[in-house]
Amino acid sequence: MKLTKSEIIKLLLSKDDEQAKLHASAALVRNENVGQKVYFRGLIEFSNFCENDCHYCGIRRSNANVERYSLEMDEILECIDFSARAGYGSVVLQSGQLQSKSFVDFVDKIVQKTKEKYPEMGITLSIGEQNRKTYKKLFDSGATRYLLRIETSNRDHYFKLHPEEMSFEKRKNCLLELKDIGYQVGTGVMIESPYQTVENLADDLVFFKENDLDMIGMGPFIPHSDTIFSGHATGRLETALNMISVLRLEMPDINIAASTALQAISPTGRELGLMAGANVIMPMVTPKKYRRGFLLYDGKPCQNESSKDCMRCIIARIKSAGLTPALGETGDSEYFKKRKRG
Ligand code: 5AD
Repeated sequence: MKLTKSEIIKLLLSKDDEQAKLHASAALVRNENVGQKVYFRGLIEFSNFCENDCHYCGIRRSNANVERYSLEMDEILECIDFSARAGYGSVVLQSGQLQSKSFVDFVDKIVQKTKEKYPEMGITLSIGEQNRKTYKKLFDSGATRYLLRIETSNRDHYFKLHPEEMSFEKRKNCLLELKDIGYQVGTGVMIESPYQTVENLADDLVFFKENDLDMIGMGPFIPHSDTIFSGHATGRLETALNMISVLRLEMPDINIAASTALQAISPTGRELGLMAGANVIMPMVTPKKYRRGFLLYDGKPCQNESSKDCMRCIIARIKSAGLTPALGETGDSEYFKKRKRG
């Protein structure tokens, strides 16, 4: 569907009956284009060391209240074994951003070992901005997907959320390089982050489409008490769900995640995300004892559950949304497959 910017804005602001209609039509578009299956991505938050200082983020460099951790290789491989046993067709290796050679080599080794043991498993990286050589090396080792949120598609807004030393152009360029190398590329934004307008959100949707992204993850902004945005309002569930629905109408065959942050603001947030058009879910696989070290925002859910608890809980949530858990499937983005075929 090709909506004008004013049509997008109108839909983003829809409430009550209009909103129910929007979600229902997005769910239908999802069912017709990518089916009723929900794909799993086992989320392994393997390190919270970060060289960036994003104003909104709980694990930003200058937050001295965070106890820093990095999982040992064996612990990571256990998480991967768990994901394979659980039937998660894909894992996401997520961390703060580090560009050191030792860090990149470590990630490279994880990718190689995972590929060796589980050749069919989708390996997604989410380790921030890296140079092209690093992206290529990790791709050649077997990582096939990459998540890097643009956070906002508006340059001026980007600088209200990030320190001066960061660059909007650089981040955008990373996305283009990742695509050029051959990754399945995911990005996303925070919804109702400080200074964001509904026009910005409409532009974000246009940005995703214009840049041919394969996967999108978006969640509400949630303030973290150790940041300058600590008193800021939390993003609203309605806006977050409307974003998912309008995105589905605009990009019918991409993968869209029902983000964990949705569940932080509503106990059934992730189910609602699925019912509004999402088709991907990311159960937590990070060992329980490390989870409190990856608090990007206050009230992050799943802190006291084991990975097994998360598995059962997520399957139940998918079923309660009337959808089918796609265990054992890698769930590549249909859009990506078409893009590759040309
Ligand atoms: N609220 C919501 N999402 C956040 N993230 C980081 N900090 C917050 C916050 N305070 C998101 C960013 C990042 C992803 C890993 O987590 O979008 O890309």
